[in-house]
Amino acid sequence: MSFNFQQNRLFAESKSLSEIANEFGTPCYVYSRAAFESQLAQYHQGLEGHDGLICYAVKACSNIAILNILAKKGAGFDIVSIGELQRVITAGGDPKKVVFSGVAKEYHEIQYALEVGIHCFNVESPDEIDLINQVASDLNTIAPISLRVNPDVDAKTHPYISTGLKDNKFGVDIKSAASVYERAATLKNIKIKGVDCHIGSQLTDVTPFMDALDRVLALVDELSAKGIEIEHLDLGGGIGVDYQGETPPNIPAYIQSVRKKIEGRNLSLIFEPGRSISANSGVLLTKVQFLKPNDHKNFAIIDAGMNDLIRPSLYSAWQNIQLIEPSNAPVKTWDLVGPICETGDFLGKERKLALEQNSVVAVMGSGAYGFTMASNYNTRNKPCEVLVDGDTVHLIGKRQTFEQQIENEQLIQE
Ligand code: LLP
Repeated sequence: MSFNFQQNRLFAESKSLSEIANEFGTPCYVYSRAAFESQLAQYHQGLEGHDGLICYAVKACSNIAILNILAKKGAGFDIVSIGELQRVITAGGDPKKVVFSGVAKEYHEIQYALEVGIHCFNVESPDEIDLINQVASDLNTIAPISLRVNPDVDAKTHPYISTGLKDNKFGVDIKSAASVYERAATLKNIKIKGVDCHIGSQLTDVTPFMDALDRVLALVDELSAKGIEIEHLDLGGGIGVDYQGETPPNIPAYIQSVRKKIEGRNLSLIFEPGRSISANSGVLLTKVQFLKPNDHKNFAIIDAGMNDLIRPSLYSAWQNIQLIEPSNAPVKTWDLVGPICETGDFLGKERKLALEQNSVVAVMGSGAYGFTMASNYNTRNKPCEVLVDGDTVHLIGKRQTFEQQIENEQLIQE
């Protein structure tokens, strides 16, 4: 088991989180190798016997040690920048298993991706196809592409992480997709491979995925009638996780229902899961600095803030917060607030916890969009990252230093 209680003490696999907090300090991200591997295995189980790729969305948690572990288990990767591609390559990932998403790819990024030979570009606009064609022609090569289509289904998730509606910036309206494909088919340095769609994140119901798939398959048929054959479907990421008692879809069952729908067609499948692989594979450890009860509210001031984990502030996301050790303090209702000079700087509100000064708590579900969205706001160093593997702990990301923060800054000469 990844994160588990043993005699009221929270463990990552066989390592107690208190020991980790003592050794590495707080704030600190702690990941479980077994959790990452077992989540990936669920996707591979669903896909078993069918041609396809599980391309982990690097943006969710991009430490190279994590990418390396996933690569060793056969994962491909979904990237959105040259930086993420460099991470994958540094981590020993196979560029041939990489799909490149993102609305604003630049010439040099496309060039590098073509040079290392990625699996496919997920193209988001007609202009982008022209640029990819141009770069491929300059390099005297052929670029494999899928068009990201926007199927206009409501993912029924937070508006900031819903991407499949008409008024989102992502992809091409599915109604105009056929004509975009027809034009792409005339370009000399473009090879049409697939259709891509990603409708949003933290979906706890598969209905929107299935609705999107129906629309995508109708497009595949329309293209086939025009002589354009599609080899793969990329259905993006988006499977939700249990943050607060949600019941997310069963991953192998979801993939099985997709397979059922495409039965009899010669289509391979790509998925781009991020959160469902990493969210519950990591926690953020943070220590109570001061207790500040007042007439209306009890504030527990902790040493991690919105710069370390922005999800609660940005999306009003709720993540469970647990004491990592039993405490004799009375249980009270606390707002856990960070050190940042912003009212919106909190990791949890109105939590019933037996907190005292120096208590260490774990913010659960922090493995996705945690460290990767951390910033240096208020000139705070980014936290360290450790990976637990059985009873062994590896430091996979050192705590940032002040010198590293300012290394690219310089005084003007007068
Ligand atoms: N593929 C594409 C093209 C994406 O844009 C995303 C996520 C994924 C795959 C992975 O989606 P997932 O399986 O993780 O849902 N920062 C937000 C989430 C933003 C998601 C952005 N795109 C959060 O913390 O909730």
